[in-house]
Amino acid sequence: MVKKITIVGAGNVGATVANNVAIRNLAEEVILIDIKEGLSEGKALDMWESSSIWGFHSRVKGVTNDYSATANSDIIVITAGVPRKPGMSRDDLIGTNAKIVKSVAEQAIKYSPDAVFIVVSNPLDVMTYAVYKTVTKAVNKPNSQVFGMAGTLDVARYKAFIAEALNIAPTNIQALLMGGHGDTMVPLPRYTSVGGVPLTQLMDKETIDKIVERTKFGGGEIVNLLGTSAWYAPGAAIMQVVEAVALNKREILPVCAYLNGEYGYKDIYIGVPVILGSKGIEKIIEIELNEEERAAFDQSAAHVKEVMKVLDDMNIV
Ligand code: NAI
Ligand code: 2OP
Repeated sequence: MVKKITIVGAGNVGATVANNVAIRNLAEEVILIDIKEGLSEGKALDMWESSSIWGFHSRVKGVTNDYSATANSDIIVITAGVPRKPGMSRDDLIGTNAKIVKSVAEQAIKYSPDAVFIVVSNPLDVMTYAVYKTVTKAVNKPNSQVFGMAGTLDVARYKAFIAEALNIAPTNIQALLMGGHGDTMVPLPRYTSVGGVPLTQLMDKETIDKIVERTKFGGGEIVNLLGTSAWYAPGAAIMQVVEAVALNKREILPVCAYLNGEYGYKDIYIGVPVILGSKGIEKIIEIELNEEERAAFDQSAAHVKEVMKVLDDMNIV
């Protein structure tokens, strides 16, 4: 358990993470902060009133735009921003969300210079880059303490689809996925196993290909059903990375990390497997990719670079 975890944005995703983090007792205090008057206070009070039933003692508190309440947070999760609507891509959110995450990061870093920052707002890879640029203007922060959450969500969706197809428990599956959080993400069937058995021995290629495609568009599938983006699976996937840091679990998980030469790339935030612990990213794991996987990763990185350029040209951060 750490002392304080702050969740910025008390909308669908932020509120779900705050609730999950409290239920798992990951911090003495969980602070929910939003710009909408009363929203964080109301949701935090509602969560706290469930504490005796769930059996947690994490003190959940809500505030409106008062960053002094977030002072000395160990972990800051940024979910502030607009979600996409049907017909929109995550990249369509760039201008609006870049201004929001910049303003959030500037305020949060003043009060918590040592926090591990976990970015969730979309387009994820580029918003993580925007937060990194913003916080490093204020303090000398290692990039290992600023990363984005998307891979644990995408891999959870991939596992759910495999579990459904094989009629086995999702928890029996080990899997890996890389690349940007978008349609170019790279699920890796060669690095997927069920109870120790390689997926390729349990499923034909056609079924695997269908699952890979469904995973790539998993976010859009929910947007088309709901008219806004998902929050239950994202809220759980964020909790998973928060827990790895809060409990210093040293787990290998896919997160959006800053590359400095790894996989042949520099100055880019993109999804790769890492060891996560109390200091954030403790190590980036470089796995061997075959020609096809390498080409898919390169295509994904090229797309992230394009969106980074759009952000740079906007001169927001
Ligand atoms: P939402 O609209 O339900 O909540 C967003 C909240 O942010 C609102 O309550 C709003 O008042 C708040 N907000 C806006 N500007 C703010 C500011 N300057 N400071 C503090 N709070 C501010 O949206 P939802 O569904 O919670 O999604 C949030 C973001 O997370 C979106 O950008 C969405 O695309 C992204 N997302 C990313 C995922 C990932 O895998 N990385 C998964 C799911 C959502
Ligand atoms: C998702 O994949 C919206 O990025 C979010 O559900």
